Amino acid sequence: MRRDIVHEGARQLTYEIREIVAVAHRLQALGVEITWENIGDPVQKGERIPQWIKDIMVKLVSEDTTYGYVATQGIPDTRRFLAEEVNKRGGCRVTMDDIVFFNGLGDAVAKIFGFLRREARVIGPSPAYSTHSSAEAAHSGYEHLTYELNPAKNWMPDLDDLDNKIKYNDSIAGMLLINPDNPTGAVYPRRLLEQIVDIAKRHKVFIMCDEIYTHIVYNGAETAHLSEVIGDVPGIALRGISKELPWPGARCGWLEVFNQDKYPAFRQYIQSLINAKMLEVCSTSLPQFAIPLIIGDVRYLEHLTARRDMFEARANEAWEILSKVEGTIVVKPQGAFYMTVLFADGVLNNRQHLPIADSKVARFITDSVRDVPIDKRFVYYLLGATGVCVVPLTGFCCDKKGFRVTLLETDDEKRRWTWHTIAENIQKYLASA
Ligand SMILES: Cc1ncc(COP(=O)(O)O)c(C=O)c1O
Repeated sequence: MRRDIVHEGARQLTYEIREIVAVAHRLQALGVEITWENIGDPVQKGERIPQWIKDIMVKLVSEDTTYGYVATQGIPDTRRFLAEEVNKRGGCRVTMDDIVFFNGLGDAVAKIFGFLRREARVIGPSPAYSTHSSAEAAHSGYEHLTYELNPAKNWMPDLDDLDNKIKYNDSIAGMLLINPDNPTGAVYPRRLLEQIVDIAKRHKVFIMCDEIYTHIVYNGAETAHLSEVIGDVPGIALRGISKELPWPGARCGWLEVFNQDKYPAFRQYIQSLINAKMLEVCSTSLPQFAIPLIIGDVRYLEHLTARRDMFEARANEAWEILSKVEGTIVVKPQGAFYMTVLFADGVLNNRQHLPIADSKVARFITDSVRDVPIDKRFVYYLLGATGVCVVPLTGFCCDKKGFRVTLLETDDEKRRWTWHTIAENIQKYLASA
């Protein structure tokens, strides 16, 4: 073609969580039974949606108004409801104009980075959630900038690292946190969030906080919403129903924008996101009609509490089994529904393997592990030998070696089998060479 049509950032678009699926499908075709531990979809793993929520949906789909176009920024009554929810917390005050709906946070993230000035960078955590890190890298055309989460300190952010990186790189205009975190399951205490806000204030950068797991906090952890600690710093919280209802197929998430009235450039940027949405004519209406009815229902709190208890029990169960494996470091999750199993320094090499009985599967795995990071090598062998499909930590924009599992399997027997199978195979693999 006479012009190069590929965007400078195209190479930065990677999503290991899905890429591993392609490998697993090849193995499935070779007869391997796959245990999907790669994606954070509670429904796929058997979670049942409470009947009272389904009843609300049935009523909504029986009404004609549900089927029309709705305001692109989001249904006014729903935005008013969500603004009131923020104001009830007593921190930064917002109005319905500070609530902006998107087709899931995936869409929000694409717009947030797509409409950010190219030279303005956002620093995010490592390990990173790939949607953020890929979108930021693609927007800038360079590798994503990261600060470290420290496994020796329960995966808390290294604040000196964050502070220094922002101080010495004036292209950084914003910082991203995920609280509770994917993939580590860490939850940030209020004091730590206040320190992060202080760093943002000193360096005059905005804060983005992904709070999609905000109502999945357990094991005694305490935290705060960004709205409660942000003070007068410009900020955005990213919220959604994919994980907490759970309804990932709704493609419905929203931004809570803080202090846009105090910073004209920030307001202009937010306006550009809204203008970009306007081109789409409408936002996802059904979940938005449902939000005040579901979140405003007295049964919703009970629903959230039951899910917290469920994930706490599973986090503890997984930790009991996997933290005992020599050569790994496992921090007990306090939020979201993931756990990261880290390999201790030096325990992995590129000669280790697992026995695979089927010769076609064995050949596929030996071919696939050429030139891959050493944690991905383990993940591929685990997949070939047992069918358990986890995600390597190096796929999360991270130099540390390990992998992420989910806490989502609803079948108790299958879940325990999965943990024990992973634990046994780590031991076998580490002992193999
Ligand atoms: C931290 C985080 N943010 C956002 C998303 C995606 O949210 P949505 O389904 O609203 O696009 C995920 C999905 O796994 C996630 O882990």
